[in-house]
This record gives sequence, C-alpha cells and structure tokens, in this order.
Amino acid sequence: MADYIYTMEIRLTPDQQRGVTLVQDIARNAEMNIYLTGGAVRDIISGFPIRDLDFTVQGNPLKLQKELERAGAVIASADDDLKTLSLVLPGNVRAEISAALTERYEKVGKPPIVSPATIIEDLRRRDFTVNAMALSLNPGSRGLLMDPFNGAADIEAKVIRILHNYAFVEDPSRLIRATRFAARFHWPLEERTQARYQSAKENNYIEHINDRAIGLEIEQLAYEDDPLHIVRMLEKEEWLKVLNPHWTTAKVDTAGLAHLLKTRQQMNELGYTPDPAPAVLYFLTSRLGDKDIADMRKLIPRKDLVEAWKDLEDNAKDLAKRLMGKEAATPSRTWKLLSEARPEMTLFLAVTARQQAVTQKIKNFFTKWRQVQQKIPLPEMTELHITPQWPQYPKVAKDVFTLLLDGKLRSRTEILKFLKPLAPPPPPPPPPPSKRGRAAKAALAAQAPAPKAKVEEKKKAKQDVPAPSAPLPTVKASAPEKNRKKPAAKMPPAIKRASKPKQKAKGKKRR
Ligand code: CTP
Repeated sequence: MADYIYTMEIRLTPDQQRGVTLVQDIARNAEMNIYLTGGAVRDIISGFPIRDLDFTVQGNPLKLQKELERAGAVIASADDDLKTLSLVLPGNVRAEISAALTERYEKVGKPPIVSPATIIEDLRRRDFTVNAMALSLNPGSRGLLMDPFNGAADIEAKVIRILHNYAFVEDPSRLIRATRFAARFHWPLEERTQARYQSAKENNYIEHINDRAIGLEIEQLAYEDDPLHIVRMLEKEEWLKVLNPHWTTAKVDTAGLAHLLKTRQQMNELGYTPDPAPAVLYFLTSRLGDKDIADMRKLIPRKDLVEAWKDLEDNAKDLAKRLMGKEAATPSRTWKLLSEARPEMTLFLAVTARQQAVTQKIKNFFTKWRQVQQKIPLPEMTELHITPQWPQYPKVAKDVFTLLLDGKLRSRTEILKFLKPLAPPPPPPPPPPSKRGRAAKAALAAQAPAPKAKVEEKKKAKQDVPAPSAPLPTVKASAPEKNRKKPAAKMPPAIKRASKPKQKAKGKKRR
C-alpha cells in the first residue's frame, strides 16, 4: 500500500506535492475524507506527466474555499450544483476538488440526479476504468489504492475501457474523451468499448452532449502536450465540429502553434514554466471568426483561462512597446524588463512579435545574454573570497553581469580590476593545531621552568599578540587591496611559532 504514496511522491513535482499536502490538511481539519482521484492517479501509475490534481472529498468542497484561499489558492470556479471547486494552487498547480457523488441518469442527454455518496460509489460513475481509481490521503489508510474496476490492469494492458454498456448513452461527452485519451496515450479502445463507441456514434448520441461538457473538452485541449494531434483525431472522428460547428484543422495556425510549443520547451529547459494554455487556444482558433471564439469562451468553465486568452494580444502589445522604449534602452535594462515580465507574455510575444528588434531582444534574452554569465571568472572570484557565502555576493555578481551585458567590462583583466577593490578581507587564520603526541611532549617541555630571560621574552610576546584563534583585524570590503594586505604581512611571530611544532611532528611521523 505504502508503495503508492512513494510512487506519488516521486512522480509529483515539488509544487504538486506541496499542493497535495495543502489540500489534504485543509480537508482533514474540516473532518472530510479526501482522495486523489481520476487522471492524477492514472498518470501517477502510468508514468505520464501529471497535468492536474483531481481530489474527491466526502462532503461539500465549497466549505473549504475560504481556507484554501487563505493558504494561497486561487479559486477559478465554484459550482454549487455539481459541488466542484476548480482552483490554482501555489506554484501554478491546477486542481479540482469534487464531492463524492452518485449519479442517476433518468433520460438520455439530461443531467443526472446527483446525491452524496461514498468514494467507491463515486468511482462507479466515472468514464473509463483507468480513470476510476482513488488513492486515499486519509490518516490510517494513506496510500491505499481503491481500484474497483481494475484500472491498474488496463493501464498495464494500455487500453481504454468503459465501466458498463451504457457509458456513452449516459454521458455522450465520453465519446470525445475516449478519442482524446486514445490519441494522447496511443492506447486503443478495448474491443467491447470500441463496439459501444461505434454504435453510439451511429445513433448520434453526441447530439445530447451538454454545454458544460463541451466547455470542459475545449478547456482540456488547451492543456494537451500535442494539441494539434488531438485536434486532428477529433476532426477525423467528427467531434471537433461538436465543440464548434466551424472548427476544423484549417482554422488552426499550425506554424504558430508549433513555434509556441518549441519556444515553451526551450523556456522549460531554462527553468521557466509558462502556462501555455491561453496561447494554445489562441493558435487553435486563430482563423475562426469572432463570434465562434466568443461562443467557445462562454462555455469554458475556467474563467481565469478565458480572461488570460482574451488579454493575450493586448498584454503582448504592451510588452512589445516597453521593449522598444527607454525602459529597454540597454541590454541590462532589457534583461531586467524580461526577467520581471510574466513568462506567459514573453512566450506569446516571442512567437507573435512583428518588430524585428523585439524578436531579437527576446532571442538575446534566452541565448546570447545567458552565455555572458560564463564570462564571469569564478575561480578568480573564489581566490578573492567572492563566493556565494559572502552576503554581498548577489549584488557584486549582478553588477559584474550588468557591466558585461552592456559591454562596459570586456576582458578578464577588466573584470578582475573591477572586482579586486570590492573583495572581502581574507578569512581569519585557522586555529593552532592541537598539541598531541610528540608535539604535546614538546609543548610540555617548553612549559618546563626556563631561564628567567626567556620567560620574560615569552610574557612580552603574549602581551603583544592576540590569541592565535582570535580573528585578525578586518578591513572594510570596499577598502583598496594594499590596505587589506597589511594585517597578513604583520602576522605576529607567536602565530608563526605555533605552527612550527605541527610541521616537526608531521616530519617525525613520516619517518
Ligand atoms: N470524469 C468522468 N466523466 C467525464 C468527465 C470526468 O468520469 N465526462 C471523471 C474521470 O474520473 C476523470 C475525472 O473525472 O478522470 C477528472 O476529469 P478531467 O479532469 O476532465 O479528466 P482527467 O482524467 O483528469 O484527464 P486530463 O488528464 O485530461 O486532465
């Protein structure tokens, strides 16, 4: 059992892990049983990327809303009828928390009558076996996998299987979902599922799909890793026109979409994680008319996604204008502007900018200017004690980078000339070696009564010199180098003497 928690923990990103802990703790405090369900469990077990977190609670998730917001979650939508919360957890983690429900379908195409249920009852109302598993997040059973339809075996067999013969009749959106999952995972429909799918298609059950399901399916396309492939499969199966009657692959800006996904990949490799969903929708619908786009936006449940999609062009124009203005007059200022811009905007602008200067600046930001960092002479900086442990390191490193970017420092010599006066003083000398073995004997002998003159001499040396372990006088970080060297040159004789017995002892040991 515990293996699933281990699998979960190694498969989730750190932000997703924090998200699971956060939601789990809030549900526990509210005394609600909570489970990780649906696609998240499927992706944890199958090894596919975990795109979002689906939770199911026994109780009303809307009651958790305030606590979740207090913990930094942003609520994207709250549906009181379906008892579902869509949210974004800190770190841009998409999540959904639904109540465990049973559904009773009375008529084809009509929404089911729902009522509170146990988690096992809830799993019975789901679409496919691979999506009908739950992982307990509750104390005492944390890690327990509930898999009443043997979804784990279907993941192993790589097939999409419905739970029962009425699956497509009850919820025709499952036809689109089956195509989407089959296309995404490259898993075929299991034989009986394929037969039911074909029969549902021939009987045109899809005409009973409801608006919310259409909106959800459009939304899901935005988060696909290869949306064009999915759109092509939906078109082939005649589902794309269900999402919008005028939607075809010809309406997609395929070049723009490919450029977007490639740029996103490059940004990921550099450690940026822009959410590409609004821009994906932009390119998927580029050649559709305004009315069609407006109709689609109305159906999408996640309003934050719709707003981001709507604002894309204006925000990109604004960023382009700033990149052409005084604010980006030098490479270092451009660097600052792009470092502070939302990665989503930089991503979209990188693909859509018309001005050559803007494209070039974004290109430099991701390539040439990053290579400038390699010119920073780290070994020499270490010798100068300019290391990350030094509190002023970030500022000094940033200043060097800025001057390099703007061409004000060109060579290694110039960089070192700039750095030397800024370097911190060298660290204090190490404490004297402990007096052990022969060295200790030698020390004892040294402590034996000595001629009076020598005792006097020793006393004087002790008074003149600080204890060997005490730090040497420090010099301000900004003081010129010649000042800093002085204390080292004045190394007190007592310190030099203290190091001698160590050398002797070493020499004797070797013999
Ligand atoms: N679900 C269902 N029938 C639907 C929609 C959803 O049974 N028509 C259930 C499935 O258990 C699904 C879960 O709700 O796994 C979450 O739905 P959704 O987020 O739409 O799908 P995911 O499986 O999470 O897929 P994705 O990877 O695309 O997010």
